[in-house]
Amino acid sequence: MIAYKFIELNNEETITRKLNEYVEKFTDILQTGRSWTPVKTETVFSYVPELLDSLKKYTSLSIDISAFVFRPPGYEEAHLDGIIETRLLYPVRNCAGSFTKFYDLNGNSVTKMVEAKGNVWWKIGKEFPLKEIDRLELTKPVFFNAGVPHGVQTPAGNGPRLTFTCSFKGDASYLLT
Ligand SMILES: [Fe+2]
Repeated sequence: MIAYKFIELNNEETITRKLNEYVEKFTDILQTGRSWTPVKTETVFSYVPELLDSLKKYTSLSIDISAFVFRPPGYEEAHLDGIIETRLLYPVRNCAGSFTKFYDLNGNSVTKMVEAKGNVWWKIGKEFPLKEIDRLELTKPVFFNAGVPHGVQTPAGNGPRLTFTCSFKGDASYLLT
């Protein structure tokens, strides 16, 4: 598996515009201080059917969608979302100039973290400095390997960086071959 792969989705402009509308009409994501917000997959797909249609050329696995808001300046600390996990990251707002950085664990420990709502992620120990191995600027939709340690760097001066992130039920590793 590779760390990430940018993809071409049909109707990308329409999808981005409608995701922005969806956020404003149906969520309080931008008003609250929350970062991670699960949204109802069926509701998103019924408001933005172009997204589901476009993804069909890549996968028939069922999909869970969350919105992620990062409020710069700052750095989202490196972590793993799962040991093997392929995700779609879709830039919605203020994503140009922000980088997802990938790291070699360099011998650090990982600890499974389970949050109140059952979300699972893996915290990386600080025994050794992480080694950056790759980075992507989030200018287009991208499949990425969330099982590789990664963190997000956003520039100061940008407004809230808003992305939608999709996980797949089942083994989606073939999307990154
Ligand atoms: Fe992540």
